[in-house]
Amino acid sequence: MWSIIGNMNAEFFIKGKTIETERLILRAFEEKDLDDFYEYAKVEGVGEMAGWYHHKNKEESLFILNMFIEGDKTFALCLKENNKVIGSIGVEQYGLEDKLSEFFDYQGREIGYVLSKDYWGQGLMVEAVSAVITYLFEDCDLDFLTCGYFVFNRQSKRVQEKLGFKPYRKLVMDTRMGTKEEAILNLLINPHKNIKFVYSHPETLIV
Ligand SMILES: CC(C)(COP(=O)(O)OP(=O)(O)OC[C@H]1O[C@@H](n2cnc3c(N)ncnc32)[C@H](O)[C@@H]1OP(=O)(O)O)[C@@H](O)C(=O)NCCC(=O)NCCS
Repeated sequence: MWSIIGNMNAEFFIKGKTIETERLILRAFEEKDLDDFYEYAKVEGVGEMAGWYHHKNKEESLFILNMFIEGDKTFALCLKENNKVIGSIGVEQYGLEDKLSEFFDYQGREIGYVLSKDYWGQGLMVEAVSAVITYLFEDCDLDFLTCGYFVFNRQSKRVQEKLGFKPYRKLVMDTRMGTKEEAILNLLINPHKNIKFVYSHPETLIV
């Protein structure tokens, strides 16, 4: 018997798109961003909250920067006042694509973000992600977005609450540091669409 599988992870590429907010320009990463990227990625306690070790040297940042450039799905957050890149927002593929049957007929992505420690606490990430969400829902016509945080990361929890994400699943996630962390995966459904998901896997569900 054939199973009908829809789009699930939407295709997404930045393709030169820039998004302007009150204090930021969001655009694709460029080679010239290496120094700015290394400046915030080398600080201990920033990447670790998102599941990766702070960068040990500029070569490591260059390797990741090249992945950002080739992947074309990670926005650089460029501060208007000094033209400095101070963070990133990735429009990533969500995981467990073959298991989450509620998404089989829909198109979505997962949002991930990091901000330079020097700029925490000014509402900049909410400002930036909010503009990306508007773009993804209104221009790219996505149906839903997921966004997760490790339970110890109250800062990121707050960002997602302020953006309107709702608790969706409680999971244990592998980090890029080789550890496992309890995490909450949140969900945001495109408010312009009348979508009612029929959820699978009740054992991890918290909707
Ligand atoms: C999560 C992160 C992007 C938040 O960005 P931000 O622009 O500082 O977010 P906000 O200004 O809205 O602050 C969010 C919360 O962080 C906390 N916070 C603010 N300033 C802080 C500071 N200097 N130090 C620690 N926590 C702080 C507050 O609890 C705040 O919530 P509140 O507005 O209800 O008081 C940023 O902290 C970060 O990059 N952290 C490391 C990477 C990371 O966690 N990425 C997300 C992985 S899921």
